[in-house]
Amino acid sequence: MKEKIGIAVLVSGGGTNLQALINAEKSGALEHGHIVAVISSQRDAYALERARIAGIPGYAFVRKELGADEFERRIAETVDSSGASLIILAGFMSILSENFVKKYPDRIINIHPALIPSFCGKGYYGLRVHEEALKRGVKITGATVHFVNEIPDGGRIIMQKAVRVRDGDTPEKLQKRVMRQAEWIIYPKAAEKVCRELIEKEKNNGKVQS
Ligand code: GRF
Repeated sequence: MKEKIGIAVLVSGGGTNLQALINAEKSGALEHGHIVAVISSQRDAYALERARIAGIPGYAFVRKELGADEFERRIAETVDSSGASLIILAGFMSILSENFVKKYPDRIINIHPALIPSFCGKGYYGLRVHEEALKRGVKITGATVHFVNEIPDGGRIIMQKAVRVRDGDTPEKLQKRVMRQAEWIIYPKAAEKVCRELIEKEKNNGKVQS
């Protein structure tokens, strides 16, 4: 019986969420997951350096150079050959096609820096999410971990955590607080939950077959 789920983390930038996952695996908080690959859509992403330091194989595939189909084909090939059965999007700035997403049902998760269904969907990424939250004047925002399906930010919600908006917040200040107080905390927890459930599922499948 497989005791740990192989994880491929897809990144594009700084990789602070990747770091939270690496730390959680090291500390044992992510007990049922093992990060086997880090795949970046940017060659110079600092996330790749974090992977290197942690001794995790890193890969870079650039959509503009490869074209959309080949880009996704390479990602899928790397995920499959690394033995990953869970894909974690951690600041991955490229939208995956319906075709790709359908290949991994309930096996791709993402973190969104707001409380879905607020400030989410097409065009809501990065600082824009926090700008819109401040414009609307919400007093509570947060982060959401969800499964990825063909609808942007539309998959089943796995975990959420609220964060208070403060007077005088700028989008940058709010972004940092949401990361510190919500993202880095719930992403490893949600990853562990999904890994545990996948192991259970595999066990049950085994039982059904025998
Ligand atoms: C985070 O804010 C996350 O919510 C969003 O992209 C950002 C990634 O930051 N999906 P990092 O690369 O993990 O530091």
